[in-house]
Amino acid sequence: MLGNGLGEALGRSLAEAERVLDLFTGSAAVAWYVAEQHGKEVLASDLQTYSTILAASVIERTKPIADRDWVESWMRRARGRVSAHRQWRDIKELQTSLDKIPVSEAASNARSIDFGTKFPVSKAYGGYYFSPWQAAWIDALRASMPEAEDLKSVGLAALIQAASRCAASPGHTAQPFKPNDTAGRFLIEAWQRDLPAIVRTRIDDIAPRKAGKKGRAYCMSANELAEAARPGDLVFLDPPYSGVHYSRFYHVLESVARGEVGEVSGSGRYPEKSERPISDFSMLTTSRRAFDDLLAILARKHANVIITFPAGKASNGLSGDDVKALATDHFRIEEAKVSSRFSTLGGDLKHRAARQDADELILTLSTRALY
Ligand SMILES: C[S@@+](CC[C@H](N)C(=O)[O-])C[C@H]1O[C@@H](n2cnc3c(N)ncnc32)[C@H](O)[C@@H]1O
Repeated sequence: MLGNGLGEALGRSLAEAERVLDLFTGSAAVAWYVAEQHGKEVLASDLQTYSTILAASVIERTKPIADRDWVESWMRRARGRVSAHRQWRDIKELQTSLDKIPVSEAASNARSIDFGTKFPVSKAYGGYYFSPWQAAWIDALRASMPEAEDLKSVGLAALIQAASRCAASPGHTAQPFKPNDTAGRFLIEAWQRDLPAIVRTRIDDIAPRKAGKKGRAYCMSANELAEAARPGDLVFLDPPYSGVHYSRFYHVLESVARGEVGEVSGSGRYPEKSERPISDFSMLTTSRRAFDDLLAILARKHANVIITFPAGKASNGLSGDDVKALATDHFRIEEAKVSSRFSTLGGDLKHRAARQDADELILTLSTRALY
């Protein structure tokens, strides 16, 4: 979207903005872009911890990290942990045999590994979204993070992105690929990805980035952080448009971010509902009210706003026209244009194949305040 109309819309409004609020930050692509390319102080929020971690890893840091010694020590500590697993030899053997044995056998061997409580992500997802080898590395890296805050922040963001790139699922983590004739080859292809190597390449991407001004990422609702807006702030809103909660699609990344998972169930291996954030924006009965309340807060704070939303009818019950009508109650519409976007439901972390083309409304709104 940044290359498809949104970048221009932001560019025009950014010149006058002191700060930028990205209230539904998701993959944090927009927060990073504004902090890095436009040097603005960015405040970001999301209900999901993993999004907050991704945002923080760049917007809260004003210096690049050139040193890589910490990565070697981190990997060494994690290697110590994986190799201490009782079945480490079986786990490694299975990893090297993945493309040599039938997928059903690989899956059944993978699911017979006993991970115990020290490897919570592996216990929940090993043999499903990840091979046992990948899963053990995720747990080991998660449990031996560097202590320095800036290194921990970059390391954890890199681990979340690497987990996203390895997850054996189509586009998001609502369900893993099944070990059958149709999806089996995708499962094996994903399970063969070298997770620790991907963590390193993600670090090489994230560590040199930095914000022009130090910002802050918050794990909280958009309506709560909106109360911190000031006159002249530019607020970017890319709210959920799905009638199903995002936490259902991104629970694996959330578990990696938290480093713990409770009991899981169902074909998607979902954690308990009480552990998955729910959003008023994703429910038919509350989405309109939530949006209206948010716009009312931002209008009261005299912020300027850019909204992106599917032009047609979305599954949370709202359409682009509804959003435009709501916006007109609170703001002056400076520009309304329709562009196209690839969507995975919002997180832009991976899997082109699962994305769909859709028309996207980009609304630029200005405060009615007179200065
Ligand atoms: C359409 S996605 C945002 C995508 C983002 N712009 C990107 O580039 O990846 C919507 C995001 O809103 C988050 N979300 C849902 N309800 C929320 C709420 N009430 N407050 C803050 N974030 C919320 C979801 O977790 C999801 O990450």
